[in-house]
Amino acid sequence: MASEVKDEKKFYDDAESYWKNVPSTIDGMLGGFGQISVTDINGSRAFLRPLLTTGGGSSGTKKAIDCGAGIGRITKRLLLPMFDSVDMVELNQGFLDGAPKHIGEEFKRIGKCYCCGLQDFTPDKGKYDVIWIQWVTGHLTDDHFVQFLQRCQDGLCENGVVVLKDNCSPEKVFDATDSSYMRTTDETLELIVKSGLKLLQSQKQKGFPKAIYDVIIRKRDFKLLGSGPFKAAVTLVDDRSGG
Ligand SMILES: C[S@@+](CC[C@H](N)C(=O)[O-])C[C@H]1O[C@@H](n2cnc3c(N)ncnc32)[C@H](O)[C@@H]1O
Repeated sequence: MASEVKDEKKFYDDAESYWKNVPSTIDGMLGGFGQISVTDINGSRAFLRPLLTTGGGSSGTKKAIDCGAGIGRITKRLLLPMFDSVDMVELNQGFLDGAPKHIGEEFKRIGKCYCCGLQDFTPDKGKYDVIWIQWVTGHLTDDHFVQFLQRCQDGLCENGVVVLKDNCSPEKVFDATDSSYMRTTDETLELIVKSGLKLLQSQKQKGFPKAIYDVIIRKRDFKLLGSGPFKAAVTLVDDRSGG
């Protein structure tokens, strides 16, 4: 498939079928690269902490939501240790069913678990300090990606932030295996800005094995991007170039 989704139903159906057959394990969440989870979470923690009041920033720590949460890999290791409570939204009910076992004792601090595609999901108004969206936006069409980010803005409470963490490639590529796109950095940033979010900060994830991702991002002043008056978006983009 080239750069546009031609058959939207097939695009979403194929992804749903793919994920239904993936085991509810860390390895399953990370396409067989379970060993990168610790590096990923450490990078995310270092990125997120300064944005929170507890780390000198301005976003609160009451409530976060993990979007495309899977079994709660990020919820467990990143979000629950930093927030009073975490909601999860995930397409595949099987993963949500596996979440209590994966998360363990701390599952008691999970608020709501929504079984829903992000293309159909609307966060409750003004509810979240942080909306975390990782390794899932490739499963949305461009229009749905933008519209979802727009709905996220209404879901943020005062000083809330949307954090997007995803892969980028030199060219937009479609992966027929799980029916997802990998967008370029510029395409990703353009869609974020189109949604009305103001880009607050962008940073590369370092330390992943070279086999995992192509490319990434050019140095630029991200603070110049976007004109959203009160909400901020943050991207954290994977990078193997290390520059
Ligand atoms: C690569 S996994 C990442 C899971 C989790 N974000 C993590 O990093 O551990 C992608 C996840 O997105 C979910 N997913 C796929 N398409 C989705 C959609 N349209 N809406 C919500 N979740 C979706 C899959 O079921 C799967 O749990």
